[in-house]
Amino acid sequence: MRTGPNGFPGLSILGLVMLGFGFCALASAPAPAAEKDLTQKGEVIVREHCGRCHAVGLTGSSPNEEAPPFRTLSSKYPIDSLAESLAEGIMSGHPDMPVFVFTPHDVDAIIRYMQSIQEEPGAGPDEPEAGGPAEQQG
Ligand code: HEC
Repeated sequence: MRTGPNGFPGLSILGLVMLGFGFCALASAPAPAAEKDLTQKGEVIVREHCGRCHAVGLTGSSPNEEAPPFRTLSSKYPIDSLAESLAEGIMSGHPDMPVFVFTPHDVDAIIRYMQSIQEEPGAGPDEPEAGGPAEQQG
């Protein structure tokens, strides 16, 4: 009987495989609950950071008349394209609007939320969410 550093190659391969499965499960199977969480997180973020100028909900007009209500953004361009601007520091060209830099996860959340409130049909691949977020103006 010999034992050596490679005595049990099977064990480490199994370990790697299990690790791989773990990552796959994380990456490719977002639970519906998590999706909802993300949308809600997005809502919280935009209410907090954008709500003082933009209408962030399904109704209402923007506190700052110049700022487009978020639910109308998709009529101008695909919501997805916002992701880049958000990640890079959004719209520094608009003097009234502060520059925001968000983490990719936050960006995801914001995009998710934006998509959930768009008025225009065909705003994105998302199917309309049952019920939608409760209407609140803030
Ligand atoms: C201090 C006020 C203010 C805040 C806070 C603010 N915005 Fe704006 N935003 C504006 C104004 C004003 C405009 C319109 C500027 C223009 O059209 O020249 C605008 C325009 C936009 C546009 C449209 C740009 C375009 O080219 O049509 C987007 C998208 C946007 N804002 C996203 C956001 C997001 C996301 C947040 C929060 C993270 C945010 N804004 C926070 C004032 C604000």
